[in-house]
Amino acid sequence: MSRRDEILRIEDLYVHFYTYAGVVKAIDGVNMSVLRGETYGLVGETGCGKSVTMRAVLRLIPPPGRIVKGRVIFNGVNLLELPEEEMRKIRGAKIAYIVQDPTAALDPLYTSGFQVAETILAHEENVGKKSVWERVVSLFKSVLIPDAERRVKQYPHEFSGGMRQRVVIACAISEKPELLIADEPTTSVDVTVQAQILEVLEDLKKTQEMTMILVTHNLGLVAQICDRVGVMYAGSIVEVSDVFRLFEEPLHPYTRGLLNAIPHVTRTQFRLEPIPGTIPDLINPPPGCRFHPRCKHATGICKREKPKLREIEPGRFVACHLYRGD
Ligand SMILES: Nc1ncnc2c1ncn2[C@@H]1O[C@H](COP(=O)(O)OP(=O)(O)O)[C@@H](O)[C@H]1O
Ligand SMILES: [Mg+2]
Repeated sequence: MSRRDEILRIEDLYVHFYTYAGVVKAIDGVNMSVLRGETYGLVGETGCGKSVTMRAVLRLIPPPGRIVKGRVIFNGVNLLELPEEEMRKIRGAKIAYIVQDPTAALDPLYTSGFQVAETILAHEENVGKKSVWERVVSLFKSVLIPDAERRVKQYPHEFSGGMRQRVVIACAISEKPELLIADEPTTSVDVTVQAQILEVLEDLKKTQEMTMILVTHNLGLVAQICDRVGVMYAGSIVEVSDVFRLFEEPLHPYTRGLLNAIPHVTRTQFRLEPIPGTIPDLINPPPGCRFHPRCKHATGICKREKPKLREIEPGRFVACHLYRGD
């Protein structure tokens, strides 16, 4: 994979959860490369390891989970080797993470503007009260909250769900992070709010020169906003491509299944064709390719050997024995 202009590279990452039922091998050799300035879509079914991978980047894996192996290179530095104190300077400031169901992060007892101000003050000493407040107002504007001067003084309950989500995004971008990770920012909201959040993210992408990783299972969102896409299945990246070629000709049987499962709004009668089966038990995962029990193309080698993520044409990577080419 090209290392030119890479802001983030995840190499051979393994994360396990040590539960009473056994060791959950949740992340199983993730390799991922994000280029500066791009919007990278990380997609895959629920439970495939998207959030755990992103949390590993920030070293926020909750117990009983542990990063057992791998490297997370951010701007040339392996974050997994940094002292915790250095890591704290990166979290929130250089890499911001909008968690799934972010509005729970807002405190109902404080005004929304105060909560954004608090985020700024947590990272910066010696900033004047007035200048913080001005920044809060301008942050509200940059996430397209109308009437920002008045809105900063309102409490979260005075905001609609979509507006609260924007406040959370305002907190996340307050330190001008180089990398913004948005984990399912539109999952818990209705279609209208989804469209609004999309507008905010697109606007940020244009105006702030921010690299963004958008974690989602919404392929429509990916098509609209992402430059490249990584498809995850049961703890590994199985395909990487620019968004156009991915939708035009998905390579991995899992990606093909995912794309088949999108309802077509233009058709009056659509048929959803989900991939048969469910994601495997990660305590006793299938040997070889973890997708093989659900794959109609599986052969002997798929049951024995885990396929590596390989570049099979420029910019297109796939981890599948169908594309071995030998
Ligand atoms: N606290 C936990 N304890 C045990 N297993 C966990 C825990 N959190 C996550 N996992 C495992 O990690 C897998 C990936 O989870 P996650 O990254 O949250 O999926 P996604 O974000 O793609 O929906 C889950 O399927 C589960 O098996
Ligand atoms: Mg998740």
